[in-house]
Amino acid sequence: MTRFLLAEAPGVLHPAGSEAHRLAGVSWLLFGLAAAVAVLVFSLLAVGLFRRGDGVDADDESAGSPARDHRFIVAGGLVLPVVVLSLVGVVTVTTTAALRKHDAKALVVDIEGRQWFWGIHYADSGVNTANLLRLPVDVPVDLVLRSTDVNHSFWVPRLAGKVDLIPGQTNHLRFTPTQVGRYRGVCAEFCGYQHANMAFEVQVMSRADFDRWQRERHQSPSATTSEAASAGRKVFAANSCAGCHTIKGVSEGTVGPDLTDFGSRPALGAGVLPNTPENLTAWIRNARASKPGAKMPPSTLSDREIADLVAYLESLP
Ligand code: CUA
Repeated sequence: MTRFLLAEAPGVLHPAGSEAHRLAGVSWLLFGLAAAVAVLVFSLLAVGLFRRGDGVDADDESAGSPARDHRFIVAGGLVLPVVVLSLVGVVTVTTTAALRKHDAKALVVDIEGRQWFWGIHYADSGVNTANLLRLPVDVPVDLVLRSTDVNHSFWVPRLAGKVDLIPGQTNHLRFTPTQVGRYRGVCAEFCGYQHANMAFEVQVMSRADFDRWQRERHQSPSATTSEAASAGRKVFAANSCAGCHTIKGVSEGTVGPDLTDFGSRPALGAGVLPNTPENLTAWIRNARASKPGAKMPPSTLSDREIADLVAYLESLP
């Protein structure tokens, strides 16, 4: 079992994508400038306190000339801030412009934010999935971000900046992942009761692995592997599961997340629990016990039916 990445802290300063590198650079520049200004200000404060403590009378004109005070105020209060803020302004504006650059060859992926999960649709191949975004390394991606309920925000700190998903509006997040690996993503805009449980994972893979995965997703679903899984498939199709969830070739529900490749996902309920048969059993019995407010109602299936259903879902590629 792979480690449960979704519980880990995000790593803005450990970038693994071209855009995140630029953002980390800006972050360090801002930190450096702020630190330098803080050191300067506190040093001057210390000098002032030290000299005053040395017995210099503030009213004594020999302590400083008006002309020198004036120069000091102009330099420290006007010139220095203008130079620092102009530098910050130029760097921020050029970085922001570079992040928006459109690449016609980019891989286009539609992302739909929902209360509380992520729908994922690969525009070119037609592949659908949820809460697990697979991307090829070193290929520019253009994420098309939409929402149909409330505002959400898509954020994978190690790969790129965050962009909001706003009902009635289409936004874009463009970046190039440069390192194969798994990355934690979160919703970064308060979107209701379970905002905190709207996480996802990005798996950046080699081009060959990504292409293989897309090809496999286009083949018709393989025959179920066990008797329990076959029985579980019937339970899924005959009950309300099928009305809300899509499994390619089985059902076409759109209320909840697409489950076609559920077995390969690391988490349940958009990051609530690691995807294990035990957790899935509890989740199907009553998802609201671990994710209050979730739309999926408690199950009325028998223990046997749930066991078969779990076997089926975990068998999905
Ligand atoms: Cu979606 Cu917060």
